[in-house]
Amino acid sequence: MVASKPTILVTGGAGYIGSHAVLTLKQAGYDVVILDNLVYGHRDLVESVLQVKLIEGDMNDRTLLDQLFASHSIAGVMHFAAYAYVGESVSDPAKYYRNNVIGTVTLLEAMLAANIKQFVFSSTCATYGIPKSVPIPEDHPQDPINPYGATKLMVERILADFDRAYGLKSVCFRYFNAAGADPAGQLGEDHQPETHLIPLVLQTALGVRESIAVFGTDYPTPDGTCIRDYIHVTDLAAAHVLGLEYLLQGGASAKFNLGNGNGFSVKEVIETARRITGRDIPAVEHDRRPGDPPALIGSSERAKTILGWQPQYSDLEQIITHAWNWHQKRHAIDPSS
Ligand SMILES: NC(=O)c1ccc[n+]([C@@H]2O[C@H](COP(=O)([O-])OP(=O)(O)OC[C@H]3O[C@@H](n4cnc5c(N)ncnc54)[C@H](O)[C@@H]3O)[C@@H](O)[C@H]2O)c1
Repeated sequence: MVASKPTILVTGGAGYIGSHAVLTLKQAGYDVVILDNLVYGHRDLVESVLQVKLIEGDMNDRTLLDQLFASHSIAGVMHFAAYAYVGESVSDPAKYYRNNVIGTVTLLEAMLAANIKQFVFSSTCATYGIPKSVPIPEDHPQDPINPYGATKLMVERILADFDRAYGLKSVCFRYFNAAGADPAGQLGEDHQPETHLIPLVLQTALGVRESIAVFGTDYPTPDGTCIRDYIHVTDLAAAHVLGLEYLLQGGASAKFNLGNGNGFSVKEVIETARRITGRDIPAVEHDRRPGDPPALIGSSERAKTILGWQPQYSDLEQIITHAWNWHQKRHAIDPSS
C-alpha cells in the first residue's frame, strides 16, 4: 500500500502563485487546505479547478488559526499570503507591515503552538534592492528600497531567529518576476489591479487597455529598456514542492533564488507578445520611474544543486504563450477582469 502524503496548509492559495502551487501539490499527491481572505484571491478557481478545502479567513485571526490547526493534521505550511504592490507599500506602509510582518508572526506563533515546524516562505528579489552586479546570488547584500521589500526581509530575519529559538525550519524562496500560466490553461494571473508587464501587454493585445507604457528607453541595456528575469509560475510551484519535501526530510533552513537566469527587456517582451498574439500592441514611451534598476537577473544555481530544481519553461515564447492562452480564456468569461 502506498503511504498517503500529509496535508499542507497553503496561505494565499487562491492567489496567482499560491493557486499554481496548490495544483502542483495536488498532482504530487498531497492533501491541501487553503487559507485565503479573498481580498485578492479567486474563489471561482479554487472551486472549479483546485477543488480543495478553502477556509475563507485572515491570517491575522489567531482564533481561526488555532481552530484550523486543531481540526486539521497539518505537516507544513506554504505561505503566499501577503500584499505585494510596491507603490502602495510606499504610500501606505502600515498596511504592509501589519499584514506581511505582523500577520506572518501571528501565523508562525499559531504554528508553533500546534507544533508545526516546516515553513515555505514567498520572499522576493526586492529584498536585494539595487543590485551591485547581475546575476544576483543569494549572498548578495540585502538592502530593499521600498517597504514591500523591507517586509519580506524582516520575515526572513524573523525566520532565522525562530529557527535558533524554537527550531522552526524554513525555506525562503526569493522569486524574480513570476510570469506565465498553468500550461494546461486552467489557472493564470488575474491581479486586480494589475501591475505586471506581461499581463498588461496581453491585456493591451486583447483591447482591454489602449496601450502599454514603457518606462525608460535610455538605460545602459542593449535596447535601452529595463531587463527583468521572468520565471514561469509552474516552475515556481515545482520548486515549492521540492522545498517542502526538503524540509519534511529534515533539511536545514535555507534561502534560494528562483529565477530564469536569463533576462528579457521590456521591448523584447512586447515584440514577443506581438508575434505570439498576432495583434497590434501600441506602446507609449515614458521617462524612467525612480527606483527601477536597469537589470535584475537572479542566479538560481543553489536551488538547482540543493533541491534538484530544473525549470521546464524558461523560454520567453513559452511563458507568453501560456499566459496568452489563459488571458484569452479569462477575458472571454469576464471582459472587465
Ligand atoms: N508575483 C510576483 O512576481 C512575486 C514576486 C516575488 C514575490 N511574490 C510573493 O509571492 C506571494 C504571492 O504573490 P501573488 O502574485 O500570487 O499574489 P496574489 O495577490 O495573487 O496572492 C496573495 C493571496 O494572499 C491573500 N491574502 C493576502 N493577505 C491575506 C491575509 N491577511 N489572510 C489571508 N489571505 C491573505 C490574497 O487574497 C491573495 O489571494 C506574495 O507573498 C508575494 O509577495 C510575488
